[in-house]
Amino acid sequence: MKTFHTVAELRTALKSERLQDKRIAFVPTMGNLHEGHMELIRRARKEGDVVVSSIFVNPMQFSANEDLERYPRTLKEDQALLESNGCDFLFAPSASEMYPDGKRSQTQIEVTGLSDILCGATRPGHFVGVATVVTKLFNIVMPDCAIFGNKDYQQLKVIEDMVRDLSSNVEIIGVDIARAESGLALSSRNGYLTEAERNTATTLYQTLLWAKQQILEGHVSYADICEQAQQKLEAVGFKRDYFEIRAQHDLLTPSEKEKRLVILVAAYLGKARLIDNLTVDLP
Ligand code: PAF
Repeated sequence: MKTFHTVAELRTALKSERLQDKRIAFVPTMGNLHEGHMELIRRARKEGDVVVSSIFVNPMQFSANEDLERYPRTLKEDQALLESNGCDFLFAPSASEMYPDGKRSQTQIEVTGLSDILCGATRPGHFVGVATVVTKLFNIVMPDCAIFGNKDYQQLKVIEDMVRDLSSNVEIIGVDIARAESGLALSSRNGYLTEAERNTATTLYQTLLWAKQQILEGHVSYADICEQAQQKLEAVGFKRDYFEIRAQHDLLTPSEKEKRLVILVAAYLGKARLIDNLTVDLP
């Protein structure tokens, strides 16, 4: 695997691949890679002739009070993992390579509406930062397809809508959530949890399963289900952010007829803010 730190070097390397008509599959990440990311890399390996990944802890998607400084940077370990899972090229730029004028770009991409709800309500500006950096990365890599985890369900929707709205020629592929045996969704932020909190954190998935069961059994008061779920989480030590049942296609409050639902949760535990989700397809 070759690692590039500048846009110019990566572009030169990819140009010769493109001239040979190779299909480029891209996996953007913020590093501190785990098995969940490797699922994305292995999927990219199946989708493309050339696999490109990026590691960039994007300052533009963190607000002032968030974990930008302490976000784990583990480039050496990440390179080894990427290489052993079949990645060909790694793009690992500095912040000044991506944002020569400072930590943000003057041009910003916003998928309006979708960016302000759920995680966007708690993290104002987050999805503008994500959409802008993903647009920049797409312009740099010019991939045929890009692979994202379903764990960041809202992020995936933002990117799908952005690509559709901007007529970008990139196929977006979502990959199922990778979970530990306990059910805990794999995440770099699990590293902030103590041993005891890691055990508690499994309640997040159990509560999603409980809520799914309630829906499948025909309970129609979604607000009630969500409130009870919040109380279950609080009982074991979580602090609330949101627990919501939404329509899969637009993440808005579903009509009574809606069959394709998604349960989304974000909650604080110790130093971590954890997110997870589960889809429900009614017959
Ligand atoms: O999901 C992530 O790791 C990031 O939000 C992404 C898509 C790499 C953009 O910085």
